[in-house]
Amino acid sequence: MDQQEIKQEIRRLLDERNAIMLAHNYQRDEIQEVADITGDSLGLARAGADTDKDVIIFCGVHFMAESSAILSPEKKVILPRLDAGCPMADMVTAEGLREMKKKHSKAMVVTYVNSSAAVKAESDICCTSANAIKVASSVEADELILVPDRNLGRWIEAHTDKTCHHWTGWCPTHDRLKTEELAQARKDNPDAVVMAHPECRPDILEMADEILSTSGMIDFAGKSSASRFIVATEMGLLYRLRKENPGKEFILPSRSLICPNMKLTSLEDVLVSLQTLEPQVTVDPDTAAKAKSALDRMLAIPRD
Ligand code: 13P
Ligand code: SF4
Repeated sequence: MDQQEIKQEIRRLLDERNAIMLAHNYQRDEIQEVADITGDSLGLARAGADTDKDVIIFCGVHFMAESSAILSPEKKVILPRLDAGCPMADMVTAEGLREMKKKHSKAMVVTYVNSSAAVKAESDICCTSANAIKVASSVEADELILVPDRNLGRWIEAHTDKTCHHWTGWCPTHDRLKTEELAQARKDNPDAVVMAHPECRPDILEMADEILSTSGMIDFAGKSSASRFIVATEMGLLYRLRKENPGKEFILPSRSLICPNMKLTSLEDVLVSLQTLEPQVTVDPDTAAKAKSALDRMLAIPRD
């Protein structure tokens, strides 16, 4: 089968299986093209929870499919590539977090969704890059434990007067963007607006005009009167930015902004997962119930 035939067969099977295909903004172009909904972590978590389909084909990384499985236990959640993980999510364990909670017993735990179900189960509330500051402000405590991204944590800390304790995890893709690379991109494109993802290092965020989640960047670029943008996040986002803004120009400041895990899923993998309804992502009911309350608290925060 050629690519076009595979895409048609995917669409046919989605119908037959009463399934929805969700794709993160960093997925390969052809995956985004065929998906029902493309979005950021928050948008996809909401889409998975809101759908009335029986099956969710989740094209993203493991923690995202796991969140969907927690929010929709009655649905079958399929991750076409079970090996698509998130190295940052793997940098914190439930046991490590329990130790940190013992040291800061008055603090409430705000956990980035880029984390395992077991870690979410030890947390008071989850956040994504789209709502992190709002979530942190909504928490009743004066002290916060921020897990696992130190960069997102520092950004939250700069926008709150709460005492913050940080876990030292990071995203290998965003963390390797260097200030020299961004400075060069700015020098080459002095008229461009710099949008950066909060997973970038603090010195990069200081150089940015706008700090946004992936879907936040899409909204901002669409509404902005500017016509050129430097995009400090994973390269997959350029597909939608370019498609939705044909008259505007988007520049990647570094060729290293690629998340290998987000690029694992191919059209063939999606096809096989629809034929077999495997591999399914499940979470044990005890862990899921605890993790769900942290996710539900986040989702209860009103949208802007
Ligand atoms: P968003 O929630 O902004 O889509 O980010 C998820 C992610 O994994 C970023 O690296
Ligand atoms: Fe994880 Fe970074 Fe890849 Fe996002 S871009 S999935 S945080 S490794």
